[in-house]
Amino acid sequence: MSEQRRFFSHETLERNAGWLIIATIAAISIAGLVQIVPLFFQHSTTEPSPGVVPYSALRLAGRDIYQREGCLGCHSQQIRTLRSEVERYGPYSLAGESVYDHPFLWGSKRTGPDLARVGGRYSDAWHQIHLNNPRDVVPESNMPAYPYLAKNAADASSIQSHMVAMRRLGVPYTDEEIANAPKELEGKTELDALVAYLQGLGINRRYIIVDEVVAK
Ligand code: HEC
Repeated sequence: MSEQRRFFSHETLERNAGWLIIATIAAISIAGLVQIVPLFFQHSTTEPSPGVVPYSALRLAGRDIYQREGCLGCHSQQIRTLRSEVERYGPYSLAGESVYDHPFLWGSKRTGPDLARVGGRYSDAWHQIHLNNPRDVVPESNMPAYPYLAKNAADASSIQSHMVAMRRLGVPYTDEEIANAPKELEGKTELDALVAYLQGLGINRRYIIVDEVVAK
């Protein structure tokens, strides 16, 4: 039996691993580009949501501590569009809320609750006690204690170069803000910085939603 196969047929791929790999890579690349490229041009993903402003020097320093301590390993910062999430954590997260996040800290592991809108939920004092020893306010908590944060001074030596780097990535810090950054950290501990960071998380949209409700 003479086998008549056209080159551009499914059989070519099924019988030839090399072509199958090449065709798979081509298909995935095109599909990936179609999904990803528009995101670089959509306003909803490239411009800050209403009320979203760059992190102040103190909050930026706090964000560094959040990364250093690996809070991300137990806490996500992304509220999904599911009813259960929105009822528990507040309005779901928007891409425009992360435009100044380099790197983003969305996370995927939730040993503890999502923190995307934890800002303003507790007092500063509550956070200080909780970070010093979570069991003092939540007896059943298995979150680690971070008692040393209150003893370490916030790192003022690298904050300016950090802000310059952020500006290169598109965060609109002014020269004045960068010049004043070390002063903002003067006398502050790592705990102050981390609490300031936490207290700013997600508040933009929480208040906007309240405003909308009040306006109605
Ligand atoms: C081993 C996992 C783990 C790590 C690491 C961890 N946490 Fe937690 N966190 C938890 C758990 C569990 C809870 C819930 C119990 C409680 O409130 O202590 C929690 C609760 C919280 C809450 C209260 C949230 C709410 O809505 O009630 C905050 C704020 C918080 N963590 C911040 C942090 C910060 C900041 C860090 C890093 C310095 C951190 N956590 C590291 C597990 C963790």
